[in-house]
Amino acid sequence: MIDRYPALRVVADPAALARAVAEHVVACGMRAVATRGRFDLVLAGGSTPAATYALLADVYAGALDWSRVRFWFGDERCVPPTDDASNFKLAKRTLFEPLGISESRIHRMRGEIEPAVAAERYAHELTDELGTAPKLDAIMLGMGSDGHTASLFPGEDPFVDTGALVRAVYVEKLAGYRLTLTPTVIDGADSVAVAASGTSKAAALHALFDGRPEKTKMPISVIGTGSASVMWFVDEAAARLLERPAP
Ligand code: 6PG
Repeated sequence: MIDRYPALRVVADPAALARAVAEHVVACGMRAVATRGRFDLVLAGGSTPAATYALLADVYAGALDWSRVRFWFGDERCVPPTDDASNFKLAKRTLFEPLGISESRIHRMRGEIEPAVAAERYAHELTDELGTAPKLDAIMLGMGSDGHTASLFPGEDPFVDTGALVRAVYVEKLAGYRLTLTPTVIDGADSVAVAASGTSKAAALHALFDGRPEKTKMPISVIGTGSASVMWFVDEAAARLLERPAP
């Protein structure tokens, strides 16, 4: 059977999704540590990655030399790191604390300071550590039901500031600011893993993978237009509208 969606892996349920993404991250990490001596990993926001982080900190804790891993963030809500909405707080609870990751290896987006300043500061952190064209080893992303990813939301031109690495964006529908890596950084990565779970993502996935016209309004559709190797991990609920051939 010709694989209609070569970059898409459909798994049964959220638990299988967490495992598949964790295994992908570990594989990327082993490759990066073996070839470069370190692994620059960008964590996703939202709720989907929590189960993957928990697996990385438990079942896969022995699979990588975590002292070689530097943790970055794809986006952050403009809230303090102690706020329940903070992507950092979720990663701290489910990944950093269980693995005993030292703060020096965690590059947190400063959601608690002026957004434009936080964006500029994070861009400098990226270039200080990785050079003027920062190439990250692996980026984890999620996708919203509207086709947003990281904090690139519909209605915003994803390429509004092509040269920028990090953007502070006011999100009308959320009535709040977000910080986000731009497509320049995301698509410049070695590997991008997008995870989508649940029926709320089915319509966006159908639009994206089956070429529906609304795809053009979805920022996630720009991911994969650069050099990054993009792999999708979705569960059956999210894949239910895909025009797949019968198994
Ligand atoms: C965020 C994210 C965002 C997220 C999607 C999916 O900070 O919210 O980066 O892009 O990945 O909204 O969120 P869920 O995993 O909660 O469905």
